[in-house]
Amino acid sequence: MTRDTAIAASPCAWWQRGVIYQIYPRSFQDSNGDGIGDLPGITRRLDYLRWLGVDALWLSPVYPSPMADFGYDVADYTGIDPIFGTLKDFDELLAETHRRGMKLIMDFVPNHTSEEHPWFRESRASRENPRRDWYIWRDPAPGGGPPNNWLSEFGGPAWTQDPATGQYYYHAYLPQQPDLNWRNPDVHAAVHTAMRFWLERGVDGFRLDTVHHLFEDEGLHDNPPNPDFRDGMAPILAYTRVHQMDLPQVQDVLAGLRQLTDAYDDRVLIGEVYLPLERIVTYYGTDLQPGVHLPFNFHLIGAAWRASFIADLMVRYESLLPPGRWPNWVLGNHDRSRVASRFGAQNAALACMLLLTLRGTPTLYYGDELGLTDVPIPPAAVQDPWELRVPGFGYGRDPVRTPMPWDKTLHGGFTDGTPWLPLGGSHGDVESQRNDATSLLRLTRDLIALRRRNAALSEGSYGAIESRGDVLVYERVAGSARVVVLLNFSSVTVHTPLVQGQVILSTAGDRAGEHAANLVALRPHEGLICACT
Ligand code: GLC
Ligand code: CA
Repeated sequence: MTRDTAIAASPCAWWQRGVIYQIYPRSFQDSNGDGIGDLPGITRRLDYLRWLGVDALWLSPVYPSPMADFGYDVADYTGIDPIFGTLKDFDELLAETHRRGMKLIMDFVPNHTSEEHPWFRESRASRENPRRDWYIWRDPAPGGGPPNNWLSEFGGPAWTQDPATGQYYYHAYLPQQPDLNWRNPDVHAAVHTAMRFWLERGVDGFRLDTVHHLFEDEGLHDNPPNPDFRDGMAPILAYTRVHQMDLPQVQDVLAGLRQLTDAYDDRVLIGEVYLPLERIVTYYGTDLQPGVHLPFNFHLIGAAWRASFIADLMVRYESLLPPGRWPNWVLGNHDRSRVASRFGAQNAALACMLLLTLRGTPTLYYGDELGLTDVPIPPAAVQDPWELRVPGFGYGRDPVRTPMPWDKTLHGGFTDGTPWLPLGGSHGDVESQRNDATSLLRLTRDLIALRRRNAALSEGSYGAIESRGDVLVYERVAGSARVVVLLNFSSVTVHTPLVQGQVILSTAGDRAGEHAANLVALRPHEGLICACT
């Protein structure tokens, strides 16, 4: 009898206990043969997600959009792009998700709209337009040219001159993504109305896009040069963006969005925040002025694949976390190299065990449960505007957005047409991995199931035990339940002095039931979860 016992009634919310699964809708499942994934396609695959055991689905944007940034340029906050389907398709997806006991989280992009959003069309029409001040317009610099030296995340100046009035508008990303002016109360009201539209429809929360960019320095001070900038680096790194992001006013906006969300039962707000850990944690807000429930913690994505590095990261994050706030970890997303490419395919299972045994809500990126790798995209097939604007520095995100391989039929069962991006890689598809008890997919499913039924893993405290050499050992404890996780980051067998207990799950799937007495042998890249006393 192990301590791997069922959880009694839990005081935690679903977004604390659960596992979030990110879907990039263009690449999940096509239903109409146009080569692009859509909402009816996702609905068709819900049984798979339920089988996998995830608790909540987060959809990258499906709003009407000219797709300059593949949906992160929103032309209407309260509609569905015909590429993805209709509002009716959305309602059906939501109902079917709920019927299976899962939650649905929408992406929401408050920082900017598409240049084709009616608000921006009006804003750019004339200086007198009532919506002029909904965006950030400035005169040219005294001698002409952009108002200051700010650069866009996606290359080139963050200012574009509009011929209609001769003024420049600000865009943290593409010129097709003008930034909203959050100093204007009408913008707050309009965005709140749009979010209420979805909350009323029953969505379970939002992932808020790039919230650290909501405000810029009103005095338009030039950014200082980046002291680490060297020849050969991408020109977008020439300055540090101190005046362009993470301004204190962001907290007021998030508090407003939180208040709005809290008026509905049991919803969650997640913030995308690419900042150092000590800044990320400020996005939880304060007790008086709460911010988002979960500011995404992306620091595993950039981590060095070394036991000591990861151990330090966990300890530092735990120590920075404000009292009473809930941690979270992200291993991959639609913007960064896939985990199996970043850390190596031989480490994919170990990374998955790490993610699903850490304290805090894990977010899993579609396809990472199969060990999908980045798919090289030939230059002529590149779609991502970031790569097109700043070529050759590895910014391209197409490789991590390729279609989900479901089976061995043409195009992996993703589409009957021509997929918008090629499928690739040698990893197995869903069907074959489902039938293989030693696959990463089956391990992922087992880890999710274990996490769900084991209170120590889903809700317990975290304690570092050791990170000697290439081995990372930690415990998770809830009441009398104690679990010890042992991860071997190296490519040789190591012996670790440790535990009295029983193995409940191992990355290779063949060690459950073993008694781990004192000296545990870990094979290369192997991880074990032990129930201990
Ligand atoms: C976020 C999204 C990214 C998008 C950018 C601009 O970082 O994750 O995909 O390009 O915001 O909206
Ligand atoms: Ca389609």
